[in-house]
Amino acid sequence: MKIKGKEYRTIWHEGKTVRIIDQTKLPHQFIIKELNTVKDAINAIKIMEVRGAPLIGGTAAYGIVLAVNENNSFEFIKKSAEELIKSRPTAINLKWAVNRMMKKLQGINSDEILDVSLNEAKEICDEDEKFCENIGINGLKIIEEIYSKKKDIVNILTHCNAGWLATINWGTATSPIYHAHKKGIPVHVWVDETRPRNQGANLTSYELNEEEVPNTIIADNTGGILMQRGEVDICIVGTDRTLSNGDVCNKIGTYLKALAAHDNNVPFYVALPSSTIDWDIKDAKDIPIEERNSEELSHVEGIDENNKIKKVLIYPAKSKAMNLAFDVTPAKYVTGLITERGISEASSEGLKKLFK
Ligand code: MRU
Repeated sequence: MKIKGKEYRTIWHEGKTVRIIDQTKLPHQFIIKELNTVKDAINAIKIMEVRGAPLIGGTAAYGIVLAVNENNSFEFIKKSAEELIKSRPTAINLKWAVNRMMKKLQGINSDEILDVSLNEAKEICDEDEKFCENIGINGLKIIEEIYSKKKDIVNILTHCNAGWLATINWGTATSPIYHAHKKGIPVHVWVDETRPRNQGANLTSYELNEEEVPNTIIADNTGGILMQRGEVDICIVGTDRTLSNGDVCNKIGTYLKALAAHDNNVPFYVALPSSTIDWDIKDAKDIPIEERNSEELSHVEGIDENNKIKKVLIYPAKSKAMNLAFDVTPAKYVTGLITERGISEASSEGLKKLFK
């Protein structure tokens, strides 16, 4: 998708390095960063220079390529894989991508291992782009149906950033929106600010602006009243891990939006590539929920009058704060899962029909 009219993907390989868009600096500064070692990749995931489940997976895949480039001994690659998996716990795409890379590298000799790893990382990223495009084509049908009845602007609420910046391209939740916009359907997006890191305000609104999709940032607690007033036609969110029974783990606050949507008969859809499905964990209580540094709550970042990025304390210095990064929305509140293979009921039966 575009930034200042130029097409980008969120991650790419150039020479011996991997390039990313540093998302900690957006929307104020657009900086392309080089990752040269597997440690760089681990750090980029940890400090969220890259974030969003599919992009974390893509970065981890390239992290393995960087590891192979540094030292292609089995011990080093295995240790790097383990460290990559630990870098963020909740998004399943990370483990999925590392395991896929490691499986591909099994038994490959040292002359070929770099090329094989590079091809597989590219394949993981190309596949994600294709899957997200298909999510858009499938989700477009839902927006078209709403528009055909309403014959007026379709208002879509989204949470956090499940946009192209969270994937390789297109996004998950935003892909149906971009497809609808490109087809000329009038859409407007309510963008949850998404405290504490403000991925909605800083990233979703930014990328929608760059694609000229009308959008309005709202405080996280505003969705409820908008739904009561009939100003939300549909919610579409992303996910970091969806269980095979349809329970959806996503950015903290998603559950409350789903409850409000349920109470107001607003359809609540979750968009995801199959790499985000956890086929192993059966009970949502077993999903590792990341708890991040409380400084993300107690401090906010913005630009000052000299255009410098500045961080300030907004809480009483003595107060404690707790920063759980994700929650789980039970399947019963999810109208449907928009995947690359079609739209499924949020249930084991629904998912089994699409993914045998
Ligand atoms: O903590 P983040 O910014 O990585 O959280 C991202 C989300 O919760 C997204 O909704 C999710 O990764 C969906 S991926 C398109």
